[in-house]
Order: sequence, then structure tokens, then C-alpha cells
Amino acid sequence: MHIPLALTYDDVLIVPRRSTLSSRSEANTKTRLSRKINLNIPIVTANMDTVTGSDMAIAMARLGGIGILHRFMSIEENAEEVRRVKRAQSMIVQDPYKIAPDKTVDEARDYVASVGITGLLVSNDDNKLQGILSRRDFIFANGEDKIVADIMTPREKLITGNAHTTFDEAKKIFAEHKIEKLPLVDVEDRIIGLITSDDIKNIIEYPLANRDENGQLIVGAAVGVHGDYIERAQELVKAGVDVLVIDIAHGHSDLMFNAVEKLREVVPDVQLIAGNVATATATKELCEAGVDAIKVGVGPGTICITRLVTGCGMPQLTAVMEAAKVAKRYGVPVIADGGIGKSGDIIKAIGAGADCVMMGGMFAGTDESPGIVMTKGDKKFKVCRGSASFTQSHTRKRHGLEKKNLKEVVPEGVESLVPYKGPVEDIIGQMVGGVKSGMSYTNSHTIAELQNNVEFVRMTSSGSRESGSHDVQAIT
Ligand code: XMP
Repeated sequence: MHIPLALTYDDVLIVPRRSTLSSRSEANTKTRLSRKINLNIPIVTANMDTVTGSDMAIAMARLGGIGILHRFMSIEENAEEVRRVKRAQSMIVQDPYKIAPDKTVDEARDYVASVGITGLLVSNDDNKLQGILSRRDFIFANGEDKIVADIMTPREKLITGNAHTTFDEAKKIFAEHKIEKLPLVDVEDRIIGLITSDDIKNIIEYPLANRDENGQLIVGAAVGVHGDYIERAQELVKAGVDVLVIDIAHGHSDLMFNAVEKLREVVPDVQLIAGNVATATATKELCEAGVDAIKVGVGPGTICITRLVTGCGMPQLTAVMEAAKVAKRYGVPVIADGGIGKSGDIIKAIGAGADCVMMGGMFAGTDESPGIVMTKGDKKFKVCRGSASFTQSHTRKRHGLEKKNLKEVVPEGVESLVPYKGPVEDIIGQMVGGVKSGMSYTNSHTIAELQNNVEFVRMTSSGSRESGSHDVQAIT
């Protein structure tokens, strides 16, 4: 039997080329996540419960990538997570939170706390603007039995816009009048939207943010192939999710094809990513099943033990190359998922044909990942847990999401501690900086050029040793 050689990132290097780029800033990292969704940076955070909740998804979309929400929660919580991302930022809030003027101040206070915002528009039964209730108004409303109308800023003192108010006009109004909210009204003074100074600030502060056609941040969410996945998908789509990831450990399976067919029927318009796979055949069959992107990686992840437990898998560089050469023919993007430990690995994954990469462990220790910061000695940590780890099954069981008896669980992932790393923005800055440098070394102005320009060489363990800092004691 002939046994072919398969390689991973650390087995290869990219041959440098003469470069026409005079600075990293000439490298454009715009790429594709799926057939219809573009990203401004080629980075996606993994749908793991220690990596992507709504905080991470908001941060990632702002920075130019996307977060895929994990599914280890109830359907209602999952849909609410999507809504949180969608509400986090928009050019125009289409359906702003409102309250009637005769409600009590306590009711208003409870309402703002429950929806997690700082102020409300005040409207009558006919949706006509009556005033604004702001953070400041609450501070000075001292307890008693006052109603909203007593403490709001009334209609006659408000500055408003209309359906034609542009971004630049709104910016000017905020600067001139030092206000925080600009309600938009029609000719009969009915509320048709709201622009906030925070939204304008975010748009300016995050120029690479990936937004949908309403100016809201884009977000993905994972579904499985068993149980409530159809209902979950429908609720996520209703909440506004842009892309669903059908995520199972062995994506080249009848269960996957069945799920793709069913989901196409019930949520036909949402982008569908399928994975994980590691071969050309699986990629071809999923492309023919009509998915919008393929997620590649069986066992390369930091917390994965699939290869040890099952003996199955494929070193990641070869897996990505095999998948990408087929997916390209169908015009379907490839996401290289797992095993990215350094920015050089991102360049290698894209050089192998991927359009973007999914990363888990790298982001598990950040401020935005779910979970608490733990201290051990003088060091800080967070938890990074495999989706197929025993602890994950245990947690799912506690929440009624796991049907299996725990004795039957054969874990394919581990639970681990990862160093606390601060804001995700810092890590993204390092990763994207490295990617841009790699683009410069390969004379690539765009991701498409990078996919074409890369020439790999294999290296020995001596080459690998030479590639990191060596024979010195690194200080930083
Ligand atoms: P990194 O290396 O970025 O990998 O941490 C993240 C990816 O790992 C996969 N994943 C698992 N694979 N057992 C596995 O074999 C698991 O328990 C597990 N949990 C996550 C997943 O594809 C993720 O995106």
C-alpha cells in the first residue's frame, strides 16, 4: 500500500519573492467568508463556548472579521445573543426602544436595565414622538411616584432628522448641538428610526467593521445536525443571523448532507457553511450539495484529541490544499479551521488556498471570550474547552442539551488553561500585522494574489528549529 505524505504548517516555509510593496499598508486583507459574505480581515473566531459569545462577535465584526456564536445554550439565549450583536451598532436603529409618557420612572428604569441601553424615545399610542428619556434624566429623578412625562426632555426641545438624513449631516448635528440621540421622524412626527452618537463614533473608530445592509454588525452562529437544530436555525435567522455554520466533527457524513438539504428548505436565504472535512472528495460533495463555504480541519486544533482517540485526521496544510483545489472550481470559499498558533500559519493557510482562517485557542484568553479570569500564583488564565470534551458534555447534560449518558461519552477534546491576553483587538493587531508582512514577502497586494503567489518548501527539523529564536534567552 502506498502511503502518501501529508504536511502541516510547521513542516513548510514560503519562499520569499521580489516585492513591489513599499509598505505593509499596501496589502489589502479583504477576503471572502462565504459565497455572499466578505470580510475585511481573514479571521473568524471559533464557535466554542470558551471563545465566541456576543461580546467576542461584536468585537470581531468591528475589527473586520466575524465571530461564530457557539450553540451550547438554549435556543432563546442563542437568538438573544444574535440580537445583541445586531443591536450593538447600526447606522440607523430601525426600531428603537420606546416607552409611553404615562409609565412610571421605575418602570422606565427597569425597562432600560432589561434591554441594556441607556435611554429611550418616548412615544404615544400613535408612535408620535413625545420626548427623550436619557441617562441624565434618570440621575435627577429622585424616587417618588413620577412618570416619564415629568422627567423627559419634551418634544419641543428636541432636534430631529428624517428619512433622508445622511451620515455626514448627523455627524454635524451631534457636533453642533452636543446631543447623543437624533430621532428620525416622518412628516406626521411618527418615529421612523434613531441615530446615536455612539453609532457614529463606532463607525468612525472601526473603519474595517463588517456590516450588513442595515449598517449592523454581521454575525454567524453554529447549529448541529440532531435534535432541535431546525428550530434553532429558524430562530437564529429570525433574530438576524447572517450565516449558519453546520458544525460537526466529521462533516463528510450522511447526517451532514441531510442537514444541508433540510436547512436549505427551511432557511433558504441564509448563507450555509459546512464542516469539518479534510479531503477533496468531501469538499466536492459538499460543494455539489450547494453549501456556501467549506470548513476544513479534522483534529488540528489546540484542544483536539480526535486524532489520538480515532486515529483519523489529516495534517492541516495538506487538508487545506486538497479542499481548496476542488472548492476553487465551484467558487466556494474555504475556511482553514484549527491549528493556527502564529500569524505565519495564517499566511501558510491562505497560501495553501484558504480564503480565511478560524481560530479558537488563540482568542480563548481574551477579555471578550466568555468565562472568568483565574489567578494562579502571579499569572492570570482563562479556560479553553474543546467542544467534544468531557466537561462540555457534562455542562450540556446539566442544561438538558445532552441526551447521552455521560458514561457513553468518549471525549475528543480537552479542557485547558490558556494565559489571559487582554483585549482581542491587541491580538488581532499582531495577527493582521503579521499577515500583511507575509503579503509583502510574497509580493501580494490582495488575498487572491497571496493564494496564487505562494511557493512552499518543505523543511527538516533543523530548519524548523532555525525558524524560531534560538541559542539566546529571549526577554520579550
Ligand atoms: P484552535 O487550534 O484554533 O482550533 O484552538 C479551534 C478548532 O478546534 C476544533 N475543536 C475541536 N476539535 N475536539 C476536536 O477534535 C474538540 O473537542 C474540539 N473543539 C473544537 C474546532 O474546529 C475549532 O474551530
